[in-house]
Amino acid sequence: MFKNILIAVVIIAIIGGVCGLVHLIRVAQRNKKELAAFNNEVAYSANLGKVLIVYYSFTGKTEDIAKQIAALTKGDLYRLNTQEEFKSSPAFYAKVKKQLSEKNYPPLAGEMPDISVYDTVFVGAPVWWYTMATPLFTYLGQTDFKGKKVVPFSTQGSNEGKFLEDFTANAKNAQIAKYEKFNNVSKDYAKAVHNKIIAWLNGL
Ligand SMILES: Cc1cc2nc3c(=O)[nH]c(=O)nc-3n(C[C@H](O)[C@H](O)[C@H](O)COP(=O)(O)O)c2cc1C
Repeated sequence: MFKNILIAVVIIAIIGGVCGLVHLIRVAQRNKKELAAFNNEVAYSANLGKVLIVYYSFTGKTEDIAKQIAALTKGDLYRLNTQEEFKSSPAFYAKVKKQLSEKNYPPLAGEMPDISVYDTVFVGAPVWWYTMATPLFTYLGQTDFKGKKVVPFSTQGSNEGKFLEDFTANAKNAQIAKYEKFNNVSKDYAKAVHNKIIAWLNGL
């Protein structure tokens, strides 16, 4: 009996491992193909007026994109911070899932930026559980964009899920401009990612 259970567990683990590996290979191929289109140097030519970049970042990926946008647009950066400091752990994933299912989003620390003085407001965050990271739900819940041009962006492992759909439903009175998403990729693609950002900004 015990032997059979052990065999079943091993088989399930092997199947899980193989599926995970196939998924990773597929994602890597997809990223490579997508970013190949951005190998060539692109000149920045956008004129977005006075720019603000509001972002949340837990592990630094979204912050990296936000900083590149700020450098190109000469915009101001505002990082959203939660009152409670989050720590990464398996329990953290469960905690976020609960926040999402209960729509109980974490309170933010500090005063929010005055968006009225900006022409374009970028708003970015990581994808958590196929939607927006919960601190972004908090921010959108307490912000009225009053017809402002708002440009959403996300970073994720490979699946942004309903990020844009949920952003659009929660960004009150925003004129939403072209959304862009950035999968996590190795540093080898840094130049291509930068070119992708420039191409996106030029098209806004
Ligand atoms: C709680 C949690 C849930 C996540 N859910 C997803 C997901 O549904 N899809 C995905 O592609 N990546 C997911 N990720 C990965 C992050 O979206 C990705 O690593 C992101 O670039 C991190 O951004 P940051 O470094 O700015 O925090 C998740 C990460 C965490 C911590």
